[in-house]
Amino acid sequence: MKNIKAIIFDAYGTLFDVNSAAEKCKNKIGDKWEGFANYWRTTQLEYTWLRSLMKRHQDFWQVTGDSLDKSMKVYQIDSSMRNELLDLYRILSPFKEVPEVLKSLKEKNLKISILSNGTPTLLAKLVESNNLENIFDDLFSIEEVGIYKPDARVYDIPIKKYQIKKQEVVFLSANTWDVSGGGNYGYNSIWVNRNNIIFDNLDYVPKHQIEDLSKILDII
Ligand code: LAC
Repeated sequence: MKNIKAIIFDAYGTLFDVNSAAEKCKNKIGDKWEGFANYWRTTQLEYTWLRSLMKRHQDFWQVTGDSLDKSMKVYQIDSSMRNELLDLYRILSPFKEVPEVLKSLKEKNLKISILSNGTPTLLAKLVESNNLENIFDDLFSIEEVGIYKPDARVYDIPIKKYQIKKQEVVFLSANTWDVSGGGNYGYNSIWVNRNNIIFDNLDYVPKHQIEDLSKILDII
């Protein structure tokens, strides 16, 4: 990859483990914690897409709470756990290789940023609680355009801010549909495939897939 000017990361599921909130409560939730965590995540994403299609935007924190409420009912989890799960969602843990890789990338002369569905407040808290606040040039939030990924207006945000070309961006996401969204838009999308899953059929095949972020250092 040549002439790269910016490395842009998806946040939830790529840098930060969305299942870590429920996992930290697994003693209380029991064996169903993982099914519950996956259902919560799937419902949260569905709500983002549906709200964008209905043109009834609510921010990611609202959507996260709404999807949690449905998931807790479906999985019969006591409502007393709601606040604890949401508090943990604000400070999700990073995947284990993430801090070291980000520090190595920081030494290269490139813009490093996040582009996420999260609100500016959520992203700032997530980064700060994991001591990563000195890494990023920008935490770009979809709130700037009021519509969720994979709308092209979202992927436009860093291009406008940095005044660079789409092909000068490396975009990393573990979310297959987000890899396709960024790739169809024109980014060099790289798929972080930690769990050896199957890619989507959405008109885009990523040029690279890596099993964790450390492999990015071999590509760039
Ligand atoms: C985000 C979602 C896609 O961070 O995980 O934008």
